[in-house]
Amino acid sequence: MQIRPVEKTVLAQATSDGAGVSLNRSLGTAVLDALDPFLLLDEFRSDDSADYIGGFPDHPHRGIETVTYMLAGAMGHGDNQGNTGKLRPGDVQWMTAGRGIIHSEMPEQEEGLMWGFQLWVNLAAKEKMRDPRYQEIKSADIPTVVRDDGVSVRVIAGEVDGTVGAVMEIEVDPTYLDVAVPPGAEFVHPLPAGHNAFCYVFEGSAVIGEGNPPTSRGTLVVLGPGDAARIAGGTEPARVLLIAGRPHNEPIVKYGPFVMNTPEEIVQAIDDFQAGRF
Ligand code: FE2
Repeated sequence: MQIRPVEKTVLAQATSDGAGVSLNRSLGTAVLDALDPFLLLDEFRSDDSADYIGGFPDHPHRGIETVTYMLAGAMGHGDNQGNTGKLRPGDVQWMTAGRGIIHSEMPEQEEGLMWGFQLWVNLAAKEKMRDPRYQEIKSADIPTVVRDDGVSVRVIAGEVDGTVGAVMEIEVDPTYLDVAVPPGAEFVHPLPAGHNAFCYVFEGSAVIGEGNPPTSRGTLVVLGPGDAARIAGGTEPARVLLIAGRPHNEPIVKYGPFVMNTPEEIVQAIDDFQAGRF
């Protein structure tokens, strides 16, 4: 079995989005524009409400999926089709925007720690104008695989030791794992050969691949080709997102929250949004 090597290491950059929410962006920047089919990865983590209280008021999406994974705090959600929900620690919302949705994501707390991630997954050309869809998974419904060596994996999407993830029927056949690795243990996970893959370390430090120095918190690691990802514990307990998916190999034209294949489709998206057709 060939362990996937480290192809690139990217430190998350501090930025802000929405109505002044502070976040760290590791994918979707000048350093790493996209990793087909993934377009963006943000980590928001602060116990200062000034960093998150503005939230993400009403905004549109077309052509992508947005995946929110909460670790701490509470985030409310509502859209222009009457859907509402609340994300609590450990919950996941996998939203397929398709042809269009206008939604808001607002904190439902005025103090305390708010911590989580948002990932954007591109849709293939033939799926960009599909009906919107939500998969809202409560923390208790996300299976956890615990191995004898102390490795513990929350299976959000994909499969580990025969345990199938909570999120199903996503076009890019994604792997989305929250992997906790204690010092001295390792997690080796086979991935489909054609899938692009990355790790994001969000607690402690871990060795990604083989023979590399430890990667510390707030770092994204792009994996090269091979049979399996390897995450090994460092000197302190680590938690790492392992994310992979089938690339579309199609042109990407981005304009803010709209991601299409051609400039003409972006113009159409703006027209449709402004005319109230979302
Ligand atoms: Fe959004």
